[in-house]
Amino acid sequence: MKTVLVTGGAGFIGSHLCKFLLEKNEKVICVDNLFTGRKENIQELMNIPNFRFIEHDIIDPLYLDDIKIDQIYNLACPASPVHYQFNPIRTVKANTLGVINILGLAKRHRARILQASTSEVYGDPIEHPQKESYRGSVNCIGKRSCYDEGKRVAETLFFDYHREHNVDIRIARIFNTFGPNMTKNDGRVISNFIVQALNNEDITVYGTGKQTRSFCYVDDTMRGLYNLMNTENFTGPVNIGNPRESCVLEIAELIVKLSNSNSKIKFDPLPPDDPKQRNPDISLAREKLNWEPKIKLEDGLKDTIEYFRKII
Ligand SMILES: NC(=O)c1ccc[n+]([C@@H]2O[C@H](COP(=O)([O-])OP(=O)(O)OC[C@H]3O[C@@H](n4cnc5c(N)ncnc54)[C@H](O)[C@@H]3O)[C@@H](O)[C@H]2O)c1
Repeated sequence: MKTVLVTGGAGFIGSHLCKFLLEKNEKVICVDNLFTGRKENIQELMNIPNFRFIEHDIIDPLYLDDIKIDQIYNLACPASPVHYQFNPIRTVKANTLGVINILGLAKRHRARILQASTSEVYGDPIEHPQKESYRGSVNCIGKRSCYDEGKRVAETLFFDYHREHNVDIRIARIFNTFGPNMTKNDGRVISNFIVQALNNEDITVYGTGKQTRSFCYVDDTMRGLYNLMNTENFTGPVNIGNPRESCVLEIAELIVKLSNSNSKIKFDPLPPDDPKQRNPDISLAREKLNWEPKIKLEDGLKDTIEYFRKII
């Protein structure tokens, strides 16, 4: 039985991952400062003997010297623009000081550590679809930079700890993920549209809605992270995302239909640095991790709509 630490484990992806690891019979320690994560997301896990929750901010050092940790998934970082721009300096701190603290923990425990990086490291990409070899087109002084540049330097730190201290690292570049346990006020495309549709409010599409996104259902993302963690001799970075590309307007229309809503679509100005196209090339994940998404967009949306119907 392995002991696995999940930072950000009370968040959207983290809570699914904790549950999945417990089902695999692993011991799970969930570390979270509950900034965007919620205890409700992990409520059903709290009574499981193999599960432990520690409220802690990774910006502060974490020791846990009384146990032996085998694997660490570092997910602790607010992920939606509303949340990471709320306190941009803290976002940078989570991705620098926080990442150094967690890498230090991995080094002391000789644990394998996986970083939840992001497609945002590609910025507003010139290359399309994005391969891992693409170096990105990122604005370093914009409002999104605390996250985009934060995640870039986090990758740098991972590779420096790997080269200098032989830390066993894995880097996943996660593309847009959706599913139950997203928060309803996070301003992300899918949660926004579903909440608006269920409330029969206008659906806000930014720009013309022709910008594309590719959405991966959370179960698929989680399996990708798990496969990466448990694949030998491969650090990544590797893209984890769904190559099915849809324009934002098409998603809005699909959500209105699937939720039987009366909402109308309204168009607002595009926010600065909003990427026009986002689409992963997942050949590397297919080859090295034997992974590709399995859940259809429509099926994932139905589950997510049901989740939001319950919590609204
Ligand atoms: N959801 C996506 O589409 C997506 C895409 C790319 C990358 N990611 C990455 O995956 C990870 C999880 O994303 P998510 O969508 O579940 O977001 P989320 O906001 O739901 O989860 C992040 C979790 O980290 C916690 N956290 C934030 N700062 C912390 C800190 N300093 N110390 C301890 N805990 C802290 C939050 O409370 C929350 O529980 C993030 O690192 C994010 O950057 C997510």
